[in-house]
Amino acid sequence: MIKRKGNLLDLEQIYALEKMVFKNEAWTIDMLKIELLCTNDSETLIIEENRLILGYFMYRKLSSDYHILNFGVSPHRQKEGIGGILLKDFLNDLENISTVFLEVKKSNFFAINLYKKNGFKVRGERKKYYKDGSSALLMNYVKNIEYGLV
Ligand SMILES: CC(C)(COP(=O)(O)OP(=O)(O)OC[C@H]1O[C@@H](n2cnc3c(N)ncnc32)[C@H](O)[C@@H]1OP(=O)(O)O)[C@@H](O)C(=O)NCCC(=O)NCCS
Repeated sequence: MIKRKGNLLDLEQIYALEKMVFKNEAWTIDMLKIELLCTNDSETLIIEENRLILGYFMYRKLSSDYHILNFGVSPHRQKEGIGGILLKDFLNDLENISTVFLEVKKSNFFAINLYKKNGFKVRGERKKYYKDGSSALLMNYVKNIEYGLV
């Protein structure tokens, strides 16, 4: 498996995965394209095998605040640790003082559990956030590593 940054050449594969993973709540190809063009300080992390994308993780950076926008693993390859690797790599590479936030469907216990296990806390709820009328939990993660003077 290879970990790398995503780019516009990954658009078709990510869109195909997005539809499989999120079904009728999938982002449109144009929404994905905007993130892959890296405007708005966005970045995509990818795990692939034999040039086949298995997982993708999209976020935006606003000074020292990060917003996780989209995160999916191929349905055939979920629960093998791929999502955990993407999330942990992202958190490890953050600057020493930074904050991350995200919205996750209240019923998505697996994802919520994954975020909690990695240090995220529930901070609030956004009612009727999704197309189907369901609510989102707002979660955040704070990294605060200060080094003393040496
Ligand atoms: C959420 C998602 C990205 C996680 O990716 P994944 O590759 O399936 O996750 P992992 O295999 O890395 O598992 C993550 C953790 O959950 C644990 N886990 C595995 N199977 C589990 C299960 N059935 N129930 C609960 N926890 C489980 C793993 O042990 C792992 O813990 P660890 O990091 O301590 O080892 C993926 O399931 C997915 O694409 N889901 C649909 C889209 C989605 O919900 N995206 C997130 C939107 S906010």
